[in-house]
Amino acid sequence: MSIISDEKNNFKKVDINSRNPVIEPETNDNDKTFENSIRPKSFDSYIGQTALKETLKITIEAAKKREQPLDHLLFYGPPGLGKTTLAGVIAAQMGVEIKITSAPALERPRDIIGILMSLKGGEILFIDEIHRLNKVAEEILYPAMEDFFLDMTTGKAQTVKTLRLPLPKFTLIGATTKAGSLSGPLRDRFGIIHRLEFYTKEELAQVVKRTAGILEIDIDENGASAIASRSRGTPRIANRLVKRVGDFALVKADGKITGKIANEALDILKIDNCGLDTTDRNLLQLIIDKYNGGPVGVETLAAALGEDTRTLEDVCEPYLLQAGFIQRTPRGRKITPYALKHLGYSAKGFNGQQNLF
Ligand code: ADE
Repeated sequence: MSIISDEKNNFKKVDINSRNPVIEPETNDNDKTFENSIRPKSFDSYIGQTALKETLKITIEAAKKREQPLDHLLFYGPPGLGKTTLAGVIAAQMGVEIKITSAPALERPRDIIGILMSLKGGEILFIDEIHRLNKVAEEILYPAMEDFFLDMTTGKAQTVKTLRLPLPKFTLIGATTKAGSLSGPLRDRFGIIHRLEFYTKEELAQVVKRTAGILEIDIDENGASAIASRSRGTPRIANRLVKRVGDFALVKADGKITGKIANEALDILKIDNCGLDTTDRNLLQLIIDKYNGGPVGVETLAAALGEDTRTLEDVCEPYLLQAGFIQRTPRGRKITPYALKHLGYSAKGFNGQQNLF
């Protein structure tokens, strides 16, 4: 841990050994400003998620023809894949305002009541991390989502009265990295549920070129492809890497991102050719060295790495699983032959996984 001071000279502890901030899929305020400045505002400029976009376009057209608001929508999938961006595109396509909040900001009943009462007809309410909504807020949402009513109680004990206030018809778009953690009753109130997929390398290369264009950074095909292949299927990471590699190109070369410059910059950032950072590699190495390749429980791994279990589960693991570096078994996580090969083990080099490749 090291101690740094913020602008107000309050001191806070920062774990300098935590994940590489460039590839950390979660966001801070700085990231949000940057992301907002490059967010696509239409389906045409939104790259990837092709099947989902087609379905959404039809749903939107139908809602417009019926002159009805959209059904409530739930987007789930790993962080950084564009759930908020897509909600913004939907609002633009419907021609309505969107109010954006997140479940941790809706701590007190008056937070959710205030936001519901501020909605106008047809507007979209976007709640990020909706699996973290507390019970009281959830129960306020049920009648609001189902019948567009706000049920409020006043008074105490015998004098308690319930008040039904009508709300304008609105659409709730919820986003979560953990669909399984949503309560059944809340999940059931979403008419449409969609999963966002990791992006292909080709899609990410398009995202990289688009972002470089907006930031007025010169980039060639090899540069875009090098950044894309190390962005772990995630446009938020690709966008941050464009900025970092752009800085490197400006200082170390003539400002143009070529394949060579991108690879040099990414090596310095310790992001390997599969997009893994030091934490990912430490996690894989730990499973090999201490747990004979696994299976091992995620809590044990988190404790050994000094990481939060939630960070490992929500941020690290989805990509490691999908890219085939680890497997999830009922008894915990297991290393795969692909991961061993990636880390430079030969077929005979690791007794726990002999002859696996
Ligand atoms: N930035 C983040 N996500 C994006 C996407 N899907 N298309 C274009 N730019 C993006």
